[in-house]
Amino acid sequence: MPLPAPLSLAPPAHPRVPLAPVLSRASFGRGRASLPSVLEAGEARFVTSGRVALALALRALGVEAGDAVLLPAYHSLSMVPPVLWRGATPLFYRVGMDTAVDLDDVAARLGPRVKVLVVTHYFGFPQDLVRLRAFCDAHGLALVEDCAHCFFGEHAGRPVGAFGDYAIASSMKFFPAYDGGVLVSRTRPLASRLRPAGAAFEIKALLNTLERGFAYGRLPLLHALLAAPLAAKGLLWNALKGRRGEAAQAAALAPASSDSGVEFDPAWVDKRASWIARRLLRRADAGRIVTRRRANYARLERALGGLPGCRPLFAQLPAGACPWLFPLLVDDPEPVCARLDAWGVPVTRFASTLWPGVDAAAGAESAALSRRVLAFPLHQELREDELAWLCERARAALAP
Ligand SMILES: Cc1ncc(COP(=O)(O)O)c(C=O)c1O
Repeated sequence: MPLPAPLSLAPPAHPRVPLAPVLSRASFGRGRASLPSVLEAGEARFVTSGRVALALALRALGVEAGDAVLLPAYHSLSMVPPVLWRGATPLFYRVGMDTAVDLDDVAARLGPRVKVLVVTHYFGFPQDLVRLRAFCDAHGLALVEDCAHCFFGEHAGRPVGAFGDYAIASSMKFFPAYDGGVLVSRTRPLASRLRPAGAAFEIKALLNTLERGFAYGRLPLLHALLAAPLAAKGLLWNALKGRRGEAAQAAALAPASSDSGVEFDPAWVDKRASWIARRLLRRADAGRIVTRRRANYARLERALGGLPGCRPLFAQLPAGACPWLFPLLVDDPEPVCARLDAWGVPVTRFASTLWPGVDAAAGAESAALSRRVLAFPLHQELREDELAWLCERARAALAP
């Protein structure tokens, strides 16, 4: 006799919410953003990821074996390999619980071979750039603004990215693109020639951009039109993969950065972003990106701001900020994460793993932030039903 089906404790059916922007018809447009972007901070070069842009910045600054680069103790693992690639040593400095750079700690780590200070504008909230620029000038340090979370924004009347000797950005976090990083400078030379990454990469980037949109129900007409060719491509792809040897499989068609990996492959340095990624940067509706991200932030703040056991990481969204995610500081994050995970609610735990050796001794605040911050998506491509569901599920997970 068949066993009775177990009682389902799962919540009702829900839309799948894309963690990052996916392509839709509304992605394109000519809306003028109320905030400048990092592209307005200087001249730009379009590469495949933020970490490649960081590698290029360090190379252009002459960082070499024996030098040291100051990185925040609260960091993405992908920020460290570009420093090692130059043969340099990463020195991790403290940030406060408000994510502000602890300049006393930075000062204590200075030395003759310390060349560069990398500063991250976490979650899209600009650091105090006037103070940081003055500090770097006083100590003969180069400043690299890490705008990976902060493609749009301004501080003291200037675009983010304009204070650094170089700025780097990770366009995949703000645009529905498969690849993309930007190196910017107003005052320093940029990599003079970037090479195209090849036809296979261009095709992969284009198809992946479309397929991610299709997977979330965007562009249904185009999806119907392309269903048969995409299915044929899938079959062909699997057959090819079966035939290729291991060495051939290792020579990846796309960088790890495009598939959420933290690895850095020097083979992608000096390679240009895909055509579709560059096109999206030029043609995306920047006004919609900034307006919707700010509005969605306010919505999440209203939904989650007053709940017990947590608080928004930042007391308020400054007028000059365009958020990447909505970061919430949670007292007891593990049970909350378990519930979110069971319900399929996408949440980012930025820096949940820190570089080996970076522990509370290197910055108790960074260790606490890496454990306690849960960050919810708020990108411009979230539909009303998805955002409403996200707010409702997040509330239920935080105050069960
Ligand atoms: C703060 C920060 N800097 C740099 C990077 C590197 O960006 P990318 O993933 O585009 O290489 C990341 C990636 O998540 C990041 O979070």
